Amino acid sequence: MSQYTEILLTQRPDGNPIGPHMFEVKHKPVPTIGPGQILIKQTHMSLDPAMLGWMMPDTNSYIPRVELGEVMRSSGFGQVVESNHPDFAKGDNVMGMMGWTEYLVSTGQGINKVQAGVTAEMALAVFALPGLTATQGLFNIGKPKVGETIVVTGAAGSVGSIVGQLAKADGLRVIGVVGSEEKADWIVSELGFDGAINYKTDDLESKLEELTPDGVDLFFENTGGPIQHHIFHRMNTHGRIIVCGMIADYTAEEPAPGPNWINLIKKRITVQGFAMPDHFGDVPNLLAKLTPYVMQGKVKYRTHTLQGLESAMTGLNLFFTGENKGKLLVEL
Ligand SMILES: NC(=O)c1ccc[n+]([C@@H]2O[C@H](COP(=O)([O-])OP(=O)(O)OC[C@H]3O[C@@H](n4cnc5c(N)ncnc54)[C@H](OP(=O)(O)O)[C@@H]3O)[C@@H](O)[C@H]2O)c1
Repeated sequence: MSQYTEILLTQRPDGNPIGPHMFEVKHKPVPTIGPGQILIKQTHMSLDPAMLGWMMPDTNSYIPRVELGEVMRSSGFGQVVESNHPDFAKGDNVMGMMGWTEYLVSTGQGINKVQAGVTAEMALAVFALPGLTATQGLFNIGKPKVGETIVVTGAAGSVGSIVGQLAKADGLRVIGVVGSEEKADWIVSELGFDGAINYKTDDLESKLEELTPDGVDLFFENTGGPIQHHIFHRMNTHGRIIVCGMIADYTAEEPAPGPNWINLIKKRITVQGFAMPDHFGDVPNLLAKLTPYVMQGKVKYRTHTLQGLESAMTGLNLFFTGENKGKLLVEL
């Protein structure tokens, strides 16, 4: 009988880079399915910064942690290779929560069919978490208006790059914050952002002032870090701050101090955090909003693809060094 590989979490993060010491790689016989079940061969797995949080001991977050001894959690894209389920046929392309495994048996719960013509890369980089997060955060929380200025941190990342393009398509002035010249060039030359700030090399205050002459109406926060205070201080009256991610703090020993709240009163600013699991029931509406932009060619993306299941164990570190160029995927 042929074998497949799965990877279990066996140790929680200890402050060192994520690596094989935290996981057990298991080889098992490919399972057979029972009534009402499908067998999925996963072909592409999504890596996401949130995975670090899911591995942490914290039991007080927006989603349960992954327990030690469990298959590591992830979303993915694959193909149905056997089906005893009326809604799925052999050969269907599907996506959903699959975990760090080459094969899985499913009842179909949480697994969605993918339309013909949508590649694995497009499904995971646009229509899965990145696009849904960008759409929810920008439109439902940020409520952008033509002519406003938005600053997006993590702007060359999978969420930030989509936020910026959607905002640009809707007539906003869009400034992105990134960690390299290559990413600055990509978001301006390829994606059409109005300007980029390199938070590692630019003078943050003066560059931000130069690029946001009318102040900042929307701040889409993906990273935290020292630029947060500068953007906060340039917020206009009735500005909205959408708190999506704080990656600079995920590996920090001490969380960074936040800005003083006095500006929230003076400028009547709204600050709202959100987490996508609250909005999974609204996916059809989010997709209905996002899809026309994609169909009109207004959402470009790039993927950074690692090879083989075991590459996930060290691949996650690329988020924290900024070495990922686009949506981080593992091809199985
Ligand atoms: N709220 C939600 O439901 C939700 C859903 C999805 C994602 N998120 C969050 O959204 C953010 C972006 O996620 P993504 O999947 O699109 O990842 P991503 O932006 O594709 O990758 C992470 C990027 O963060 C940047 N970064 C790393 N360390 C940093 C630091 N200390 N300061 C500033 N930037 C740093 C790096 O880019 P540079 O090279 O530019 O530094 C890196 O490439 C993450 O914080 C993630 O947790 C939240």
